Amino acid sequence: MDASDTVEHQGRPIVIVSNRGPVSFEVDGDAPDGVRARRGAGGLVSGLGPMVRDTDTIWVAASMTDGDRVVAGRGVTTAEGFRVRLIDIDPDTWVAFYDRVCNEALWFAHHGLFDPVYEPSWPSGWADGPWEAYRQVNQAFAAAVARDAPADAVVLVQDYHLCLMAPALREARPDLHLVHFSHTPFAPPAWLRMLPGAVGRELLDGMAAHHACGFHSPRWEHDFTDSCAALGVPACRTFVAPLGPDEADLEATASAPATQAARAELDELVGDRAFIVRVDRLELSKNVLRGFDAYEALLDAEPHRHGTVVFGAFVYPSRQGVPAYDRYAQAVAARVAEVNERFGTATWTPIAYDPHDDYPRSVAALQRADVVLVNPIRDGLNLVAKEAALLTRRDGQLVLSPEAGAWDELGGNGAWRADPFDVGATARALGDALDAPPPERARRARELRAAAAARTPARWLADQLAAGEA
Ligand code: G6P
Repeated sequence: MDASDTVEHQGRPIVIVSNRGPVSFEVDGDAPDGVRARRGAGGLVSGLGPMVRDTDTIWVAASMTDGDRVVAGRGVTTAEGFRVRLIDIDPDTWVAFYDRVCNEALWFAHHGLFDPVYEPSWPSGWADGPWEAYRQVNQAFAAAVARDAPADAVVLVQDYHLCLMAPALREARPDLHLVHFSHTPFAPPAWLRMLPGAVGRELLDGMAAHHACGFHSPRWEHDFTDSCAALGVPACRTFVAPLGPDEADLEATASAPATQAARAELDELVGDRAFIVRVDRLELSKNVLRGFDAYEALLDAEPHRHGTVVFGAFVYPSRQGVPAYDRYAQAVAARVAEVNERFGTATWTPIAYDPHDDYPRSVAALQRADVVLVNPIRDGLNLVAKEAALLTRRDGQLVLSPEAGAWDELGGNGAWRADPFDVGATARALGDALDAPPPERARRARELRAAAAARTPARWLADQLAAGEA
């Protein structure tokens, strides 16, 4: 797809709406207009960025920095090739919206992270406090889109942060075509009912007010329609459109000097040992702890592996304002120390753990890995699994949880299975993947690569646009 397809889709302009924007700004007294722009973080920007850059597409996003708030006052602004419209939200409302609702409530419900014995335990006032902040932020987004969207635009609303915009927007702007896309799984009825009062129902009403709702997997689509049926909400049209990696972008990173330097460092670190790798956001649903449990079980069961394997765990911090994430980060670091203490020797550190964001190093690790472990409890897609399949230089094997959306495409095409709670089976899968004979490794790697390359960001975007037309 070239840029012209995205500017005018069947004559319709495009508006993208997401919590995290494609550009963020820092206050800078030396800059001519008082702020300095830099590319935003996150997968959505790297996936969609190349297609909407230097086009008329307007991207509406939340302000997250002081510089963003300065820019929010200026309406639609062009920076780094993007036409962005930032929404100013006061910091307290922001924390209630993002930490309390998006990341402690909705994220947990969609990923099955509640532990019903202890939590959730909603305080009185939750529905009037944090949930009201979630409503307000969604209303602010809806008002901005109502004001700035060109006539007849297709509006692509991204993810669980923004589920309540559609009813107001439909009323204010009946000309717009509204599509919602969930990057997460979706909560089945039992987990949605764990949210307080009528929150689950309001969420579904908000989503069903779009012309169509999209998901990475038919399983999440089914959970959505099931929840709608259980809570008495007539569902809208739904569609399934898994995202795929941007191969050109990956290749560019893979051949960049920083990645080559990182690869040389990894060569030094690993030597002639086997290399197991994981690359994740430091995120509860990624199941990092049970990954180490499985590795420990493997070392316990098979002493001949001592000294012959290194587990590179390259994670990066996330959602540090949410106490459960801070506790998790500490638990992960402690577990690494335990395993290294137990098995390590003067010449061998079993786990090479690094919790700092270093994208070139992550890419280098996926190239260098003999086995990549992706064992989430539940995951909308997991793009890393697909990226690993494209990046490997050693017929790298993929040990994958069937609870990742990507399992639909990769499960029957070369991936080894690791049920996320079955530590013993994960340990065996790691061992089998490490020991697979070269012809089997090559076959699996070939199948994985073909399956991972089958979907592209352009295809994914085109599917959302088509859903807005139907
Ligand atoms: C998931 C979500 C995205 C989110 C990303 C990073 O992939 O589906 O919406 O942007 O995690 O999380 P963060 O909270 O840092 O934006």
